[in-house]
Amino acid sequence: MKTSPIIIALDCDSAAEAKAIVKATVDTVSYYKVGLELYAVAGPKFVTDLVAKGKKVFLDLKLHDIGETVKRATAQIATMGVSLLTVHAEPQVMRAAVAGKGKSKLKILGVTVLTSLDQTDLHAMGYTQALNALFELRVRNAARAGVDGVVCSPLEVAKVRALLGAGKLIVTPGVRSAGAAKGDQKRVATPGDAIVAGSDLLVIGRQVTRAEDPNAEVKRILSEIRAAKRRTTS
Ligand code: C5P
Repeated sequence: MKTSPIIIALDCDSAAEAKAIVKATVDTVSYYKVGLELYAVAGPKFVTDLVAKGKKVFLDLKLHDIGETVKRATAQIATMGVSLLTVHAEPQVMRAAVAGKGKSKLKILGVTVLTSLDQTDLHAMGYTQALNALFELRVRNAARAGVDGVVCSPLEVAKVRALLGAGKLIVTPGVRSAGAAKGDQKRVATPGDAIVAGSDLLVIGRQVTRAEDPNAEVKRILSEIRAAKRRTTS
């Protein structure tokens, strides 16, 4: 289980609901993502309780503020035993987060360009370059700022790996088994394809959390990943 690449997204509006998902996946999952919604309702206590139970936590707060604030907030988060924290991939913000984590084990991930933004949105925000060029610039800036990795779409993993080089973490949401409901995700890849393309960790939410048997669903995804790896090595 230690080497499982699956992070379950606890997109819940109460600690009770999130705890029920953790309980339902206790045999198969050791890594959970806590985002803004759950953090707003359940706070640091939920996170530190999860860490105390031996779970790893990806705190997806996408920090974006002046350097000093990001540095000090990151330093606080580093004391909570969190494994991964997201910040927006702007040079100042990323450098501040790297300074804030100090010598702790916390890893910082840069969020490049939010997938909710398209070219029209970027123009409205004052960006003149193409979305793709901005995305690539931000991945390069992430490498220069010394963060530990980036979050990106599974369809961009190969390009990001080439820009980041080996040794950096690539974490991908937007992953779905073939045939699973996509929900509002548009650009998805299967868990096997995402791993084979070079993703280190997969963030999966609804496919598991809304499954009738979440534990069985995780096992099925893990066997899909093993089969995809076997196909590429045979
Ligand atoms: O339920 P689903 O598997 O789509 O959840 C994926 C998780 O990853 C959610 O927490 C979502 O907010 C997050 N995410 C995403 N796409 C991004 C960035 C984050 O789906 N580009």
